[in-house]
Amino acid sequence: MAYDVLFQPGKIGTCTTKNRIIMAPMGNINMADPIGRPLPKMIEYFIERARGGTGLLITGLIPVSFGIDPTVSEDNDTTYFPRIDGSSRTRLAGFRDLAAGVHAYDCRLFIQLTAGLGRVGSPEAMLKVKILKSASWNRNFYVPQVPHVPLSDRQIKKIVKAFGQAAINAKVSGFDGVHLHGHEGYMMDQLTSLPWNRRKFGRYRNASSLPWMW
Ligand SMILES: Cc1cc2nc3c(=O)[nH]c(=O)nc-3n(C[C@H](O)[C@H](O)[C@H](O)COP(=O)(O)O)c2cc1C
Repeated sequence: MAYDVLFQPGKIGTCTTKNRIIMAPMGNINMADPIGRPLPKMIEYFIERARGGTGLLITGLIPVSFGIDPTVSEDNDTTYFPRIDGSSRTRLAGFRDLAAGVHAYDCRLFIQLTAGLGRVGSPEAMLKVKILKSASWNRNFYVPQVPHVPLSDRQIKKIVKAFGQAAINAKVSGFDGVHLHGHEGYMMDQLTSLPWNRRKFGRYRNASSLPWMW
């Protein structure tokens, strides 16, 4: 039968899926409360797709760069994204319900973690007197007149550590894996691609810009 393989079990690392139908990450914007706890509508949204027979669901991007990349937060440290970074245990309860609800249908769940949006974020944060960030001096994608200043090594180190904490939080909440948001020119792409990361020195210089890499 055509598409037979689609309905056979799959394997990603140690994670097995009942079939190979995977829902791509799609931003869960405004599906969390202002401090980032998943709302019932987010939990129901994923459970409904598990009920429909999907083998693996991936959440939309969940930033770990709050307080560093101003494009992912709003006034008073609130956010329209879900949050799983940091050490606040109260945030995890909703994620536990989400994972348990999805697992009830033998569906697997990955969390998508992001370093932030950087130059592909809304330049609106600048109106709130925030300094926009990127890997190097870069122009904002939407309004090229708006500059983004380079992250300091210390800030990048903080983001790297926050990835680790968020991944641990996801694991204890019942997620089956982590998906890294590294595409389409977002912050992780800015840090790892030569056109955006033109850092010549320090721990996070772009290794591909070094002459011996060519
Ligand atoms: C509404 C919407 C939200 C999206 N949000 C994300 C996201 O949070 N993270 C991500 O990596 N990709 C995101 N994407 C990209 C999708 O995961 C997917 O890669 C893209 O839509 C291409 O697949 P398609 O051709 O099947 O639509 C989003 C796409 C849509 C349409």
